[in-house]
Amino acid sequence: MAVLVTGGLGYIGSHTCVELMNTGTEIVVVDNLYNCKKSSYDRIKALTGKDFKFYECDIRDAEGLSKIFENENIGSVIHFAGLKAVGESVQKPLEYFDNNVNGTLVLLDVMRKHGCKKIVFSSSATVYGMNNVSPLTENMEVGGVTNPYGRTKYMIECILKDLYVSDNEWSICLLRYFNPIGAHKSGTMGEDPNGIPNNLMPYITQVAIGKRECLTVHGNDYDTPDGTGVRDYIHVVDLALGHLKAVGKVEGENGLFIYNLGTGIGYSVLDVVKAFEKASGKEIPYVIGPRRSGDLATCYSNAEKALNELGWKAERGIDEMCEDSWRWQSQNPDGYPD
Ligand code: NAD
Ligand code: UD1
Repeated sequence: MAVLVTGGLGYIGSHTCVELMNTGTEIVVVDNLYNCKKSSYDRIKALTGKDFKFYECDIRDAEGLSKIFENENIGSVIHFAGLKAVGESVQKPLEYFDNNVNGTLVLLDVMRKHGCKKIVFSSSATVYGMNNVSPLTENMEVGGVTNPYGRTKYMIECILKDLYVSDNEWSICLLRYFNPIGAHKSGTMGEDPNGIPNNLMPYITQVAIGKRECLTVHGNDYDTPDGTGVRDYIHVVDLALGHLKAVGKVEGENGLFIYNLGTGIGYSVLDVVKAFEKASGKEIPYVIGPRRSGDLATCYSNAEKALNELGWKAERGIDEMCEDSWRWQSQNPDGYPD
């Protein structure tokens, strides 16, 4: 039986594909190439030395997805496919709800029609909203999200919970990611954002490579040790390995499972800048700007549930995250080739 990976050529999906194949798991990937390059497929194959089936298909295309389920022996699904830029989601809410929520509905319906009821879903720490205090635990109330992107994640979580209530033959795992950064050790796979990066690490690496002049720190008057925002950065390979455990969970038993995937440690923006400077030997010039609207002062996980129930724990520290992000950026200044 194969694992179907939607959005498998993207940043987190590609790293997860490599780890799945490294443990001998058969995979089938579906991606519409909206936010990735086809060369990511070649890089995954080169790294693992193995081939796998790739379908260029949109998850909203029910007919296309059905054909994949008919052609392949799919046992479970890891569902990464989605749009993820918070700012863009404010400008294009309909596109975000259509792609993320409608796309998931189409996928779930096709899965059900083909008797496949095991899914691992890419959720986000954003579902904890503005009202919970870190460290965040899975039993806290979710919602209170401030933007359409976050709402798509919250809505999909609700849909999946309702689905499980309606039919407990499903096995569903919601993974709430904190802040994935880093890249594959080889330097051949990493994050390749379009245009001006919104997130901290890709912005820093583009300053280091000379594409951007200087980092703007979004506020230094938060109630945190140095006044800048604190986040739970997690190495993308640790995150990928968390998915292997989650697939094992849904394949092993029915249920609705929810896990934070984070390290449990918070670093400030300036901590990350310092760690990156040490890892890269490059100075990162920065200016202090105003707060970014919708930002929290502090957001980090309690990571114990995933340890206790999945036996998973993030192993890679902030220095390694920075070294690997820098290796990827310096070896691929323009990201993946066209
Ligand atoms: P990404 O954009 O690199 O990967 C997503 C992939 O899905 C892309 O390759 C894209 O082409 C594909 N895709 C998008 N819409 C599709 C559709 N309708 N049909 C088929 N393919 C489609 O993003 P990522 O960082 O790898 O994130 C993966 C998932 O994790 C997303 O759902 C994202 O919301 C979620 N997530 C990401 C972060 C993060 O910081 N990167 C944090 C929390 C949650
Ligand atoms: C982002 C997403 C959030 C998602 C999370 C996990 C936004 C607004 N939110 O949040 O939905 O769940 O990633 O991946 O995009 N920073 C700067 N300068 C920059 C960029 C960022 O100072 O140029 C600061 C931010 O203010 C924040 C920290 O760096 O304090 C991390 O920012 P970012 O990488 O965007 O992640 P989140 O804010 O956690």
